[in-house]
Amino acid sequence: MDSNGDGVGDLPGLTSKLDVLRDGTPSSLGIEGLWLSPVYPSPNRDFGYDISDYSSIDPVYGTMEDFDRLMAGARARGIHLIMDLVVNHSSTEHPWFRQARTSRENPFHDYYLWSDGTNGKPPNNWGSTFGGSAWEWNEQTHEFYLHSFLKEQADLNWRNHRLREEIHDIMRFWMNRGVDGFRLDVANYYVKDAQLRDNAHEVVITQPMPGNPSKTLYIPMSREVYDHTVDQPETHDALREMRGVIDEKPGHMMVGEIAQRTQGQVLSYYGDGDSELNLVFNFFFFVRHFRAKDFRDIIQRTLDLLPEGAWPAWVLSNHDVVRAVSRYHCSPPMTKSMIGLLLTLKGTPFLYNGEELGLANTPLLRKLLQDPVGKRYWPLPVGRDGERTPMPWDDTANAGFTTGVPWLPVSAPAMSYSTESADPTSVLSFTRRLSWFRSHHSALNAGDMSIVAGPSDTCLCFTRTSSAEHMTITINLSDQTVAIPRGSFTSDQIPLFSTEEQPSMDSLAPWEVRIAAAPA
Ligand code: NOJ
Repeated sequence: MDSNGDGVGDLPGLTSKLDVLRDGTPSSLGIEGLWLSPVYPSPNRDFGYDISDYSSIDPVYGTMEDFDRLMAGARARGIHLIMDLVVNHSSTEHPWFRQARTSRENPFHDYYLWSDGTNGKPPNNWGSTFGGSAWEWNEQTHEFYLHSFLKEQADLNWRNHRLREEIHDIMRFWMNRGVDGFRLDVANYYVKDAQLRDNAHEVVITQPMPGNPSKTLYIPMSREVYDHTVDQPETHDALREMRGVIDEKPGHMMVGEIAQRTQGQVLSYYGDGDSELNLVFNFFFFVRHFRAKDFRDIIQRTLDLLPEGAWPAWVLSNHDVVRAVSRYHCSPPMTKSMIGLLLTLKGTPFLYNGEELGLANTPLLRKLLQDPVGKRYWPLPVGRDGERTPMPWDDTANAGFTTGVPWLPVSAPAMSYSTESADPTSVLSFTRRLSWFRSHHSALNAGDMSIVAGPSDTCLCFTRTSSAEHMTITINLSDQTVAIPRGSFTSDQIPLFSTEEQPSMDSLAPWEVRIAAAPA
């Protein structure tokens, strides 16, 4: 929400909408935490993920006082707030890098990763995630610096202990200001191979990916394995140290973005005996089809591999991937089944803003693109602007988001917070209802989980159990009515919550989400 008409959402705008997020009644969304994407000063080459000052607020979003008001407003409503901590790299405009690049003797030089290269060429084959070599020449010192992302995002040297202390102090700075924790950007990238050995390449046959036509071709292609740049054992040491800082104040947490490897590798970032990240995003739904079988596999594997006592974190959409509604071509009932799944699984669900409305990606003309990745690869649909367009609040001009010109066009005119609030059958009304239900049932918000056999293969069926409650959840992930055989597990359940007004005891409606109390 933009409060000052410059077309960009800002902190006062967000503060003015806190009641929408949680007002203590069933007519708000009822969230318990807010992850604020980066709001620090930034040249915005990568929309805040290139930070030039870790301890203040970019004027485009407001002031430190605006931040304090947001914090106070959130706290008053029982909303925790976490900041994005982007410390694999800083902006090349950060004073550290501006100093570091001036001479090899500069005290900040070792805050970054450098190499002489060979014969004017980069030292190895490491590639930037956004394309091209990960090395950029620095004329002043006659050497290359590493950038795993854009060349304006220089990778920090996590082997430098002074740098680590600086990061710890940044964490303390925000924790003292009242934040409850951090979302760690690419947390498995921090430490790189000291010998700068080449990364391997593997030939993969690309699989059709939901919602991304550029990846629907079955062509063999060579892909960098990142075996020397990602998941290095010392990164775990760095995270354990950061956990120590988090634990200095009770009740704080870190959730990590672990760029996708195998499920086992991702889950290893919880650490032995809860010693690293408190939560690790599970992104595995992104690359699977919307089928009970696919989802069941991911969930079961997560439950099997999750370290003792660790708590999952589920994601269907975020600012980097095609929104789930577009990815899976969802109708509103299908969207409800998806949100139903997210809010009933064991774990912390992360809803991406607009997901509660069932918002789809916004198709954009090339000239409107802002994301450098989108511009570089256009017309391939790999840019991220489509999922970042402003929130549609109402049916006034620019969907009530701004009185000025929005930084990206607002999406779907028919859909907004106010129209969906007025419609009891909307995705928003459903999400609010389920969120309220979830918050009042310990089985759902804290209970254990087991997958059980459902009435058909197209259904996901699982139990959630706390010391006080035992519930079963059945989600029909298909557009067909599913019969419930007499005497089956599901037929014995007493429905407590459903997407249907009158759930039938003999069948599940297409896309129905049903929560039931299991018989004692
Ligand atoms: C992951 C963030 O989610 C993405 O938006 C960003 O471009 C990269 N990390 C680099 O910081």
